[in-house]
Amino acid sequence: MELIDGKKISLEIKAEIAIEVENIKKAGGKVPHLAAILVGHDGGSETYVANKVKSCEEVGFKSSLIRFEDNVTEKELLAKVHELNNDNDIDGFIVQLPLPKQINEQAVIEAIDSSKDVDGFHPVNVGRTVIGLPSFISATPFGIIELLKRYKIEISGKHCVVLGRSNIVGRPISILLSQKGSYGDATVTVLHSRSKNLEQICASADIIIAALGQPEFVKANMVKQGAVVIDVGTTRVKSELTKSGFKLTGDVKFDEVAPKCSFITPVPGGVGPMTIVSLLRNTLLAAKKEIYK
Ligand code: GUN
Repeated sequence: MELIDGKKISLEIKAEIAIEVENIKKAGGKVPHLAAILVGHDGGSETYVANKVKSCEEVGFKSSLIRFEDNVTEKELLAKVHELNNDNDIDGFIVQLPLPKQINEQAVIEAIDSSKDVDGFHPVNVGRTVIGLPSFISATPFGIIELLKRYKIEISGKHCVVLGRSNIVGRPISILLSQKGSYGDATVTVLHSRSKNLEQICASADIIIAALGQPEFVKANMVKQGAVVIDVGTTRVKSELTKSGFKLTGDVKFDEVAPKCSFITPVPGGVGPMTIVSLLRNTLLAAKKEIYK
């Protein structure tokens, strides 16, 4: 069994991005600039956004954090989105989710200029991904594909089971893995809460992508000997063993599943660290106008 070290790979990618930024600067080019809109003071969102801003600094990007209080109106938020769309200094931006209930999240996502949508949530980017056009791919699926590539895990012709069908992870990763070409060509089964024979189908998979958000859902009996297991789960479960009072728990019962695997991602330190570097990669692509030329 080999552990897939997302932390190590993410540091390698950050170093690669930092070199690119240096080269852009040396050539007199514009430093990539990512902006993030954060509404309210949710603890999880604050941490995510702080990490995104910190990561920008680490690779030499410019970053801007724009804050609104919880009672912001949809009109005010949309006005800021339009302002960022038209700001030539901003290469890409994100609106951290979730948003307060008075705001229609989908309307905000759709207001973002798709050429600046480095989260890859805009329907234009999702649609372009589906038909294999260059697009911003959302951070988690982008990160998973990169981990598979860097560990040279063959996926062509393999049976991949994706557990979960969310817009952000399950749906896009199932599309990417089944696409024609490099890091595609897999036979993909998407399993979800209404699936029958879920355990049996899982146990026939060469590769399992667990993205349900249900702690320790995948048990040893659901995993074939030699399978590759990618755990996307990051649920905060109460724990007396940690200072913070909670433990980040994956969708896979790691201790019993790991011995059966050829490769497995840990939680934390697997897929998680890859998501932020994927956002940085998208920002670099946006700055270089490599998706929308
Ligand atoms: N909330 C949780 N994950 C994400 C993400 O990747 N992007 C945004 N914008 N909000 C999130």
